[in-house]
Amino acid sequence: MTASFPALRLRRTRTSAWSRALHRETRISPADLIWPIFVTDGQGVEDPVASLPGVSRWSVDGIAARAKEAVSLGIPCLALFPNTQPERRSEDGREALNPDNLMCRAIRAIRDAVGCDVGVLTDVALDPYTSHGQDGLIDPAGYVLNDATVEVLVGQSLNQVAAGADIIAPSDMMDGRIGVIRAALEAGGHGNVQIMAYAAKYASAFYGPFRDAVGSGGLLKGDKKTYQMDPANGEEALREVALDLAEGADSVMVKPGLPYLDIVRRVKDRFEVPVFAYQVSGEYAMIEAAVAAGAGDRDALVLETLTAFKRAGCSGVLTYHAAHAARLLGG
Ligand code: PBG
Repeated sequence: MTASFPALRLRRTRTSAWSRALHRETRISPADLIWPIFVTDGQGVEDPVASLPGVSRWSVDGIAARAKEAVSLGIPCLALFPNTQPERRSEDGREALNPDNLMCRAIRAIRDAVGCDVGVLTDVALDPYTSHGQDGLIDPAGYVLNDATVEVLVGQSLNQVAAGADIIAPSDMMDGRIGVIRAALEAGGHGNVQIMAYAAKYASAFYGPFRDAVGSGGLLKGDKKTYQMDPANGEEALREVALDLAEGADSVMVKPGLPYLDIVRRVKDRFEVPVFAYQVSGEYAMIEAAVAAGAGDRDALVLETLTAFKRAGCSGVLTYHAAHAARLLGG
């Protein structure tokens, strides 16, 4: 039951800043953010990513410094992505299993720098390690093999956990991988390691700058449409989420972010579990391009988009703007 105009004037509560603050339904804080960062080889290296202005690949010492920055900004979690040295990429991506690969060295450096004051989320998929840029093992026709890939992903996950990863985040979209990884974690005595499933990951045109950043873009022939989802599908996303939850995921992710807020809301309403969204590289690049073109204010665009994720039902957001947003939010 509501009044009608003029007894009801919805502008009444909007007349002053204090009143708008009092009536605000959604709030964001640095604690809502996961900061994706790129690791590169060497010492003292900061290597800017041309297609992601303001984002760099850091050598392991720089990753430790980013971890300290995250702690001081109140960002609870880092997501790591390696730019594997070209000579370490192979048809089968076996570098993913190397206990001294860039990811594992970065995880250990974070632990040394900040202990357990920040969570470490690690991506599970083979694309930063394969010479063909696909997320899994391929057959002679180039088709990405499901079950054989899952076996390698289990080894990759255990390798990351041995180095100290807190959250395993499979981004590969193979069928059945969450259950197998969960069973391996349990069997290995890692019952408290979380799994954040990239459950609804779309075959998107918004990943281009990320592929530059990890060096897989130039290698990739074709696309990832035989495993990543068709952007036209919503019901199928709910089936993906249902399966990953049943197999033992602690939280689920929708990716990309803004173009898929309807999926976030449907997942949240249907399953009532922690949902995260990844505001991906192409989304970051669009905001930065708008700012560079004088078409928008960075701070306002960043905060408005992050608020939209929370309003849609997200527990948190992976965003390359994390450090900037945390500073804006007073972290
Ligand atoms: C790899 C992976 C991708 C992203 C995260 N993990 C790219 C892809 O699937 O090709 C994209 C992130 C971004 O664009 O910011 N499995």
